[in-house]
Amino acid sequence: PKPNLAPTPPMGWNSWNKFACNVSEQLIRQQADAMAASGMKEAGYQYIVIDDCWQKSRDADGNIQADPERFPSGIKALADYVHAKGLKFGLYSDAGSLTCGGRPGSAGHEFQDARQYARWGVDYLKYDWCHTGPRNAEAAYTIMAKALRESGRDIVLSICEWGVNQPERWGPTVGHLWRTTGDIFDAWEGKKDWSHGMTNILDMQVERAAHSAPNAWNDPDMLEVGNGGMTTTEYESHFSLWAMLAAPLIAGNDLSKMDADTRRILTNADVIAVDQDPLGRQGQRIWKQGDLEIWSRPLKDGDHAVVLFNRGKAPAAMRVDWTQLKLPAGQKADVKDLWSKRVSKGVAGGYGGTVASHGVIMVRITPVR
Ligand code: DGJ
Repeated sequence: PKPNLAPTPPMGWNSWNKFACNVSEQLIRQQADAMAASGMKEAGYQYIVIDDCWQKSRDADGNIQADPERFPSGIKALADYVHAKGLKFGLYSDAGSLTCGGRPGSAGHEFQDARQYARWGVDYLKYDWCHTGPRNAEAAYTIMAKALRESGRDIVLSICEWGVNQPERWGPTVGHLWRTTGDIFDAWEGKKDWSHGMTNILDMQVERAAHSAPNAWNDPDMLEVGNGGMTTTEYESHFSLWAMLAAPLIAGNDLSKMDADTRRILTNADVIAVDQDPLGRQGQRIWKQGDLEIWSRPLKDGDHAVVLFNRGKAPAAMRVDWTQLKLPAGQKADVKDLWSKRVSKGVAGGYGGTVASHGVIMVRITPVR
């Protein structure tokens, strides 16, 4: 059976959103240093994952080789470095003949690659879906899952086939998380080929909530917080909504150059606690009227997380009624605003306020017992 390596959504950093193919051992060491020193590690971030383009070729025996110019010390030394920081180490491969970036894929080499990953000390594999020809996705990912299980090391399997072969049907038994869409890009909204702005990705998550569960998470793709294409308010919304989705929180920015807002957003302990809630139920959009939406997520011990989300161009007065959360009439609740940190005790009826354009009010509601 699949090992229980992701009881809550994985948290970490991945090279792709900011650095694409521009990866090297210096970069990875620098990001590991920054994760350990910036408060990210204390906030719960754990995995340092190299995405595409670390590979170069296979040797005469078919063993996968790192690019020797970019990784002259080799992957084992790099994994050791990351582990010495108290962090975990991840790599990327692809179920096809080539990765999306044109490097050798794992098709036909699954067991050999998984053994190599285990020898190197890999803890997490993101497994992509380019150049797969007529391969069946469920079968292809099942082979790699088996190879990882038999490698002798605990390795998280991140399924990255963009939601095109109904991964919610087979993903839960095969991997620990599966992408639900094409790629995110660092903008409030938009579409280019297979990639989408943040709110477009969000819209594609609606009605997927029932498929997510502990050790089997929907993955709405990695974070863009801190990459510069959205405002601070929009990044707060992005982070809040990903927490509501029980999304893997995989930072995609340069951790060595975070400004104060980026660090404050990515390390907001109250929002992270919603994402990592042990009940493991994904939140849902429970109300929508024009540009205004209410998202809610049931938490352990009867708490609720609620996001009042304003996509509009002007500030808006918004409110959630306790009845929308199916709380009994007359129920009183303590409410914590997870961004302002304001606490309101014994609130009856509902809670609201003025929500900034493109912003959220995110609260944790604890019924008074
Ligand atoms: C497509 C994936 O969806 C991205 O997240 C990234 O891994 C690239 N491939 C790398 O080529």
